[in-house]
Amino acid sequence: MKAIRIRGSRPLSGTIRVGGAKNAALPILCATLLSDGASLLRNVPALRDIDTTAALLRFLGRDVIVAAPEVRVAPATRVARPEAPYELVRQMRASVLVLGPLVARYGRAKVSLPGGCAIGARPVDQHLMGLEALGAKITVEHGYVIAEAPRLRGAEIVFDMPTVTGTENLLMAAALARGRTTLVNCAREPEVVELAAVLNKMGAEVQGAGSSVIHVVGRDELDPFDHAIQSDRIEAGTFMAAIGAAGGDVLLEEAPLDDLEPVVAKLRQAGVEIEREGAHARVRRLGPIRAVDVTTAPHPGFPTDMQAQLMAMMTVATGRSVMVETIFENRFMHVPELVRMGADIETHHNTAIIQGVQRLSGAGVMATDLRASASLVIAGLIAEGETIVHRVYHLDRGYERIEEKLAGAGADVTRIDANGEEA
Ligand code: EPU
Repeated sequence: MKAIRIRGSRPLSGTIRVGGAKNAALPILCATLLSDGASLLRNVPALRDIDTTAALLRFLGRDVIVAAPEVRVAPATRVARPEAPYELVRQMRASVLVLGPLVARYGRAKVSLPGGCAIGARPVDQHLMGLEALGAKITVEHGYVIAEAPRLRGAEIVFDMPTVTGTENLLMAAALARGRTTLVNCAREPEVVELAAVLNKMGAEVQGAGSSVIHVVGRDELDPFDHAIQSDRIEAGTFMAAIGAAGGDVLLEEAPLDDLEPVVAKLRQAGVEIEREGAHARVRRLGPIRAVDVTTAPHPGFPTDMQAQLMAMMTVATGRSVMVETIFENRFMHVPELVRMGADIETHHNTAIIQGVQRLSGAGVMATDLRASASLVIAGLIAEGETIVHRVYHLDRGYERIEEKLAGAGADVTRIDANGEEA
């Protein structure tokens, strides 16, 4: 099995380019199911989750050509089966995003329930509640959700909590429903705003995305689209934390600073200089790292997807930081691995207390989920000696060639095989 080897304690310099946003591309790929024509997505990152979504769309009767950074999706000649099997859904929870489009488009959908995952239970009750409100009959049997409705009809839906993929699923369903839908207490993430823009390109009428109330006027049919995916704010934030942790001076190309305000604010407080340079950001850390406290929150709060990476940086800060995770109940799995590298971290329920230490030392560590893996890579950049991050497939779900991008900025990071040879 492949691993990432990092020889740490070197500052970063040069240029790193940020790719397209995974969590924007996934729902937008699923939105292609709403139309009968051929759609083109540009600036799509080459990631395992994109390949999984492509496999799912093929299973659902689409021809999908993935030639990153472009993906073309067209209806295939074979009969569509509106069914997402367990084998595909278990690889990626975001597969549940086909539920709304399928029931809206075909009147029936059978999608495996995603179940729990490494970072928590992550139920989909809000997705189902919303589809029921739009008139779908929902049954759950043998681990599958079956949603049926000859034609969805607009409704007012109030979410119990802001859910990103829940809001996206309901937006897509409402875009083909008869009449007007109002979604209340929506997720306000930039990825929701981008999906709404794509639905508008397709001919739906979506207003209010980015605020907590969204109105959708559905259509009988939707058009195919051509769309370039925005830059990945979490990939950009991850590199900012890496530069902050390792020190140095890097030009981060295509960094979506407007979507990163809470992350940029915390990094600046911690002593990282971040300046806009056109579409890019210059990121520098020359002085010491100062401890900062963080509580994760739905957008525009500090993203849970950046908690692990900031924690890696805080392990060598001057002082003590307190990090509270409010979105997922089991998102501290990087902690025991960071401790193995010499970090001083205590956790109590959803709170981690990080007492900065002088240095980390390289070790073999195990990645458990995508963002935890990124945090271990960052810890490896700080540490003295060699760090080997195992289970790289987690990283490959959401970071395109992270080792090449970091190596391009002067880090000693290589992908190795089971024999320790460069892979
Ligand atoms: N929730 C429910 N019921 C639901 C839906 C959500 O209780 O029906 C709860 C969740 O358990 C969680 C909270 O609501 O406590 C928010 O979860 P949300 O639904 O917003 O998460 P998600 O849509 O499953 C997306 C991202 C995640 C990111 C979260 C939070 C995608 C494909 N995934 O997940 O990204 O952490 O929003 O911002 O957009 C990642 O990229 O590493 C990742 C995990």
